Amino acid sequence: MFQKLVFLALIAIPLASATCDTKKFEACQDTFADRLGIDRVYNWLNPLGLTLQIQDIYINGGVAGARGLNVVCNAYNSMVQCLAAASTTTSECFDIGFLLHHSSAPNQAYSYGFLMSMLQYQCGAGFYLASDNWQCMQRIYSGKNATMYGCITDFILNTQEDPKRGCNYVQTGMDCFSKASILQGCPDELKYYGCESFRQYSLPQFSRCEKQCPIDTQYRI
Ligand SMILES: *[C@@H]1O[C@H](CO)[C@@H](O)[C@H](O)[C@H]1NC(C)=O
Repeated sequence: MFQKLVFLALIAIPLASATCDTKKFEACQDTFADRLGIDRVYNWLNPLGLTLQIQDIYINGGVAGARGLNVVCNAYNSMVQCLAAASTTTSECFDIGFLLHHSSAPNQAYSYGFLMSMLQYQCGAGFYLASDNWQCMQRIYSGKNATMYGCITDFILNTQEDPKRGCNYVQTGMDCFSKASILQGCPDELKYYGCESFRQYSLPQFSRCEKQCPIDTQYRI
């Protein structure tokens, strides 16, 4: 009993130590929605709705035909800058412990943390891979919109119902995104991009799985 209490006390510390200012964070989410040109209801309270809105921008572009990837990443960078200006760091506000602490439903916190982790990749290390092949990537999002959203909702449902098998679901999701990112006439690297996007999506909860996305022939069909 005593040992259990000590353990709980230890894990409680990192949860409490995130110093994200909720009010500022919410204001920065409004900035994000405004820059995306979407309704402000698509925030951390509606992460799956926000996920679909972002897919929609990837497919249809922003106002005046702006490239979807640029619209999303400019908006994401604005939010990051907003958070920095609010003298708090991105990592504190996107910290899964903080999100769980401020959310009524765990899967809501996770879905938001997952999405921000994926965007960090898509607007960071993965940006040029998609940007250099944007015509392909846009067609992939367009043709596989429902499939990719299904990869995500299956993952959320399954990991919530059966967290012990979480790492299997991470792999399933990576394969699902990877397979969705295959399109005739488009480069093989986009399978890697799809896989890595999903791997990054899962990291806030499942970094312990230590999954890797194969870069070369393994996914070739
Ligand atoms: C993408 O798929 C989702 C889920 O099936 C759907 O609700 C949404 O309208 C689709 N978006 C586009 C742009 O087709």
